[in-house]
Order: sequence, then C-alpha cells, then structure tokens
Amino acid sequence: MDSFLIQGGQRLAGSIAVSGSKNSALPILAVSLMTDAPCRFGNIPLLRDIQTQVKILNTLGIESVWKGRVITTRVADTYNSTAPYELVKQMRAGVCVLGPLLAKRGEAIVSLPGGCVIGERPIDLHLKGLEALGAEITLDHGNIHAKAPKGGLRGAEIYLGGKFGSSVLATDNVMCAAVLAKGTTVIECAACEPEVVDLAECLNAMGARIEGAGSPRITIHGVKKLKGADWDVIPDRIEAGTFILAGAITRSPITVAGCRPDHLLAFFDVLRQMGIRTERKANAVKVIPVDLWKGTEVVTLPHPAFPTDCQAQTMALMSLAQGASTLTERIYPERFMAAAELKRMGAKISVANGVALIQGVDKLSGAEVMASDLRASAALVIAGLAAQGETKISRVYHIDRGYERIEERLRKLGARIQRIAGSPEPAAAKTAEA
Ligand code: EPZ
Repeated sequence: MDSFLIQGGQRLAGSIAVSGSKNSALPILAVSLMTDAPCRFGNIPLLRDIQTQVKILNTLGIESVWKGRVITTRVADTYNSTAPYELVKQMRAGVCVLGPLLAKRGEAIVSLPGGCVIGERPIDLHLKGLEALGAEITLDHGNIHAKAPKGGLRGAEIYLGGKFGSSVLATDNVMCAAVLAKGTTVIECAACEPEVVDLAECLNAMGARIEGAGSPRITIHGVKKLKGADWDVIPDRIEAGTFILAGAITRSPITVAGCRPDHLLAFFDVLRQMGIRTERKANAVKVIPVDLWKGTEVVTLPHPAFPTDCQAQTMALMSLAQGASTLTERIYPERFMAAAELKRMGAKISVANGVALIQGVDKLSGAEVMASDLRASAALVIAGLAAQGETKISRVYHIDRGYERIEERLRKLGARIQRIAGSPEPAAAKTAEA
C-alpha cells in the first residue's frame, strides 16, 4: 500500500487546476443506462471510483471508451440488470444505477452497499422513493430486487427527508426513475447539492422535463424516452475547498483555478469568520496569506450549508487557529476519523456526541499517521504540509479514490511530498465509502 512522505513548513506558490467533480460524474455516468443512444461525458476526473462505476456499467451491458477526460458509451446489450456485490462493495455510489436501471429496463438487482467507516449509511430513502413510484422492492441475499409494475413506474408526490435531512444519492435515484415514469412526480425535501443540479441539467439536455433542481422541491414530468447525453461535469467543489485550505494552512498565495466558488459560499463564510482571506473570481480563488487565524463554530448540514466533505480538512486548519473551535457533524455524527491522527501530530481535539472541540496550538509536528477514509486522508495531507518536520501517511489508496495524483499537483506548487510505493492493497482495503 502506497504512502506519502511530506516535509512540512514549505510555502506554496502558483496555480492549481481543479478536476471534474467525482460526486457529479458518478450519478451522471449512470444516465447512459436510461437511453438507447450513444453518450459523451466530458471533464471526467481520472479516479479509481470512476473506474469502478465504469466497470459496473460494463457489467450492465454499457460499452465504454475512456480517452483522456472523456468517456463515450453505447448500449451493447440489456440482458443483465444485476450490479454485482464485488463492485458495489468497492464504492457505495454504485447504488446510483438503481433508479436508471429500474426506469429504463423495469427491473434492477443491485447489491446492498455494505458498511462504511464514516458512519451508518442506510438506503431506506432510496427504496421509499422508488416504492412510491410503484416499484416492488425486496431485499434478498444481500441484494435489492426492484421491479416496476405492469405499464411501468407512475409519477407520485414523495417526501424524501430523513433523520439527517435530505439525501443526495436518494434524490438522484428517484429523480432518474421519475424521468421515465408516467405522469408527474414531486420530490419534497430533495437534496439541493450542485451535483444534483448538474445531473438534472444533463437529463434535461437529454430531453427530460425536470424543474426546481437545486431547491428542496423538484418536479419531474415523465417522458417516454431520452436522447443521448453530451455533457461536461462541473468542477469538484470539495477538491477546490481542499486546495484552498492547503493554501491557507501553509500561509501561501496560491490560486485554485477552474472551480465554481458559487458552489462553496458556506465554506467561504467560515473562512471569513476565521480571518482567512481569499479573492474570488468567477471560476478561480486566490488565497491571501495571513499569519494568524482564529477559531470558530461550524455545523455541517446539507447544501447550501457547510459541506461535511470539507469537515476533516477544516479541522486541520482549526488545529492551528488562535483559540477554540467546534465542529458539529450533523450528517455523519461519527465522521471524526481524522481527529486521532491529527492528535498524533500535536493537535488538541476532543470528540463527543458528534461534536469536536479543537483547541488551537502554535504548531503541528510531523509524525507517522494512517489514512482511514477519503476526506480524513486529505486532512492529513494538508496538516502534513503545515507541520514541522516529516509526516508519513500510510494507506493513501483512500485519497486516490477522490483526488487525482494529488502529490504531483501539490509538488508543482512547491510542496515537498512524494509517494512511496508499497505492497498491493489487500482486497479488504477495497471497501466502499463514496
Ligand atoms: C453523497 O453521499 C456524497 N457521495 C458523499 O461524499 C457526501 O458525504 C454525502 O452525499 C453528503 O453530502 C456522492 O455523491 C457519491 P446522503 P450520499 O444520502 O448521497 C442519511 C465523499 O467524501 N441517509 O446525502 O450517500 C445518511 O446516512 C463522499 O466524496 C439515510 O438516512 O449521502 C447520511 O447521514 C462521502 N437514508 C445523510 O442521510 C438514506 O436512504 C446524508 O447522506 C440515505 C441517506
């Protein structure tokens, strides 16, 4: 298993470009199941999770060609509608083929996603929404069996709110299924994430009739069939946030280019509260270095509030703030895997009942730490960049799931980071989190 070696304390400089959004590309690639026509998907990030999604689509009869950042697809056959455990266990987001398959083929068998390090992640809302459209759903031998009624799915009014509020992938699955259903569907308490909007706009460009994406109420007027997709996914706002934090924590005047700052307003509000300065343009952000920043209180909630996927990286910044901070995790109350590792680097953090209390310290010192999930590993990278001395991060396969060649791109900014090749990952390492 590869690891990263980081010599901290370097000032960074220059510009780093943001890749396409992982969390937009995953559900958007699944629309290739909803049309008989060829599709083209652009600005696709070169990530292991995307490879897994493509493999899932290939098993479902979708032929694909991946050239650079473009994936083209065509429907080779439709006889297999089972998304296997072997692949779905590697990436939870594989569940987002459920709605498209059911809508287009009237049947879907998708492995139930297993456990996840960031917390309990049920799919009850996905199933509730699809059942409301008339699907018959049974859970059997670790699989979800979904079958559309005779005559196909029917439009319905669906309240899709759960105990933690809206669900991104449940909204995606139900919205896709409703696109090819008879009649009109209203999804109340829909997720408002930019990735949901990107999916809806891609579907509308294919001939769907979706209104209100980006608001808690989405209305879908069913259509008979869709054209092929020709879509470039949005930039990755979480990657952009991670790089902005890397600039802030190293007091470096870097520019994060090719991003959508308007997708991160709650994030910038928190930076402003901490005294971190940025200069925003339409699609770029310049970090204005400051020597000191202060603690603040952050609560993660569904978009447009502060994103849970930036929580761990922000915790790293808070660990070097003046004074105390609190981070309340309202989406995954147990998602504090980074805390213990940051404490190995000298951070002062206590976690209880979904709240982390971070007492700022003057410096972090390099140490051997272990990545446990995608965003926690990003937090360790940016902490390592700021720490004094050497940090060694093991199990960086977690970070490869969501950040493309991060060490090479940071090195171009002057970071002293290198990948140490290790033994191949054991199968158990390939567990789902996305
Ligand atoms: C998406 O996951 C993202 N993944 C996650 O990013 C992100 O953390 C999450 O949204 C929240 O923003 C992708 O887009 C591929 P949810 P998703 O359903 O859709 C509960 C990353 O780091 N819930 O919005 O699976 C759930 O347990 C990943 O890139 C139910 O209770 O998340 C959670 O507490 C990690 N029942 C909350 O809702 C359901 O049926 C929000 O989860 C579904 C979800």
